[in-house]
Amino acid sequence: MFKLVTHNRHKFEEIRKIVPDLEMLDMEYPEIQADTLEEVVEFSLNYLSDRIDGDFIIDDSGLFIEALNGFPGVYSAYVFRTIGNDGILALLRGVENRRAYFKTVIGIRFQGVNYKLVGICHGIIAEEPRGTNGFGYDPIFIPEGFEKTFAEMSTEEKNRISHRGKAVRKLAAFMDRFYPR
Ligand code: IMP
Repeated sequence: MFKLVTHNRHKFEEIRKIVPDLEMLDMEYPEIQADTLEEVVEFSLNYLSDRIDGDFIIDDSGLFIEALNGFPGVYSAYVFRTIGNDGILALLRGVENRRAYFKTVIGIRFQGVNYKLVGICHGIIAEEPRGTNGFGYDPIFIPEGFEKTFAEMSTEEKNRISHRGKAVRKLAAFMDRFYPR
């Protein structure tokens, strides 16, 4: 069984709906400052490999807003903690271009080797927060082709189209191939 190293139970629940053979290892780890999620994940995989026995996975995600040149991007966790959804909406007040995307990079440590799987979901930033499901930026993100925010969707609905859902379906394929149950 793979271990998901995370402090975020919501991520675990979303991922487990697609990959049931998963155990949550509740552990915080440092995230370096870098320009891409891939670099952050690479560092974290190496850092954790010295502290965890065997195979494990991590999920690093971010929200990239076009009108803000990709901000908050790799700083999404810090920005959420500091200014939150209301702060993002304030930055975008009066801004017509509301395009944004979520990106997830799943990092896999498998038999001493690092792998990365990516999922992206395009959409727009809502005018005001809506919905109570999900977590983080879900109440202000409307995926392309929908009227609802992620926070107005069930976990199953979100998983079908989300950045994480896409990356995790690649993870499921990886596991079937390299990790026969
Ligand atoms: P991290 O992957 O835990 O570093 O997440 C970065 C930030 O983005 C955190 O504030 C999360 O709450 C937020 N976040 C990550 N994934 C999602 C998502 O699927 N929906 C909404 N917010 C997310």
